[in-house]
Amino acid sequence: MTYEKVVIGNAELYRGDCRDILPTLARPDAIVCDPPYGQGLNTNVTGKSVTGRKPGSGRPYSIHDKRRKTAAGIHSTGLATQFPDSIEGDDPSDPFDVACLLGYSDRVLLWGAHKFADKLPRGRWLAWDKVPTGKVRDQGDGEMAWTNVGPNAVTRFYRLLWDGVCVGSEARHEVTAGQRRVHPTKKPQALMAWSLGFVKAKPGEVMCDPCMGVGSTVVAALEAGCAFVGMEKVPFYFDIACRRIEDAQRQSRLFG
Ligand SMILES: C[S@@+](CC[C@H](N)C(=O)[O-])C[C@H]1O[C@@H](n2cnc3c(N)ncnc32)[C@H](O)[C@@H]1O
Repeated sequence: MTYEKVVIGNAELYRGDCRDILPTLARPDAIVCDPPYGQGLNTNVTGKSVTGRKPGSGRPYSIHDKRRKTAAGIHSTGLATQFPDSIEGDDPSDPFDVACLLGYSDRVLLWGAHKFADKLPRGRWLAWDKVPTGKVRDQGDGEMAWTNVGPNAVTRFYRLLWDGVCVGSEARHEVTAGQRRVHPTKKPQALMAWSLGFVKAKPGEVMCDPCMGVGSTVVAALEAGCAFVGMEKVPFYFDIACRRIEDAQRQSRLFG
């Protein structure tokens, strides 16, 4: 088992496999996570095949065909990033077992849970409506989260447009600021802030995201005054999360 630990302010971040790291740590007050869904997602930028190959079948490509190779071996260009070909743990034939997360905290909330509902006990369901405009999408119109906190409480909806170029304010900011898309399944920070309320996160408590991707939950929890323990297996995403969390902490010091 090898992993790297980085501490940034109130965030303790581990680059490595959460299944190795979680058993070695103190139990967090709550886990809020967006684990891999086991859906075999093609993480190519456009989803179209090039040079006769099927999406995700191997050769990386970019939408502008003007490639630069980063130190991590990832091709990036313009506003789009060529992500690793797939999401770690997302292979339907050998999906990440989300049930392993349930034993590490009394309060757990998991996004994408409609994809693995059969692995979960009775709980409360929440929903993210990605197209409050009502426009029908090729991809899903929304996503479900499950939590064991208040299993009999009512379902709640979060409404935030998130649809390619027609996106809500957070993603539009990324595009207009000339930033790259940094993760194929990045969650809006505002959605993760909303989620923290359902696990009753309080300032000073320790929140945890064992599959943090580029750190959306981390930034939301730090802004809510919580401490954080985060894990990410893929170095490419881990490094982006570290930079993002450093930036967020710098800004919060700047603006008090
Ligand atoms: C659905 S994505 C989460 C994206 C995140 N919500 C965000 O906003 O960036 C799941 C992440 O879990 C990571 N992952 C998969 N298996 C893992 C494991 N065993 N340990 C730690 N991270 C893992 C993947 O690399 C991926 O970045």
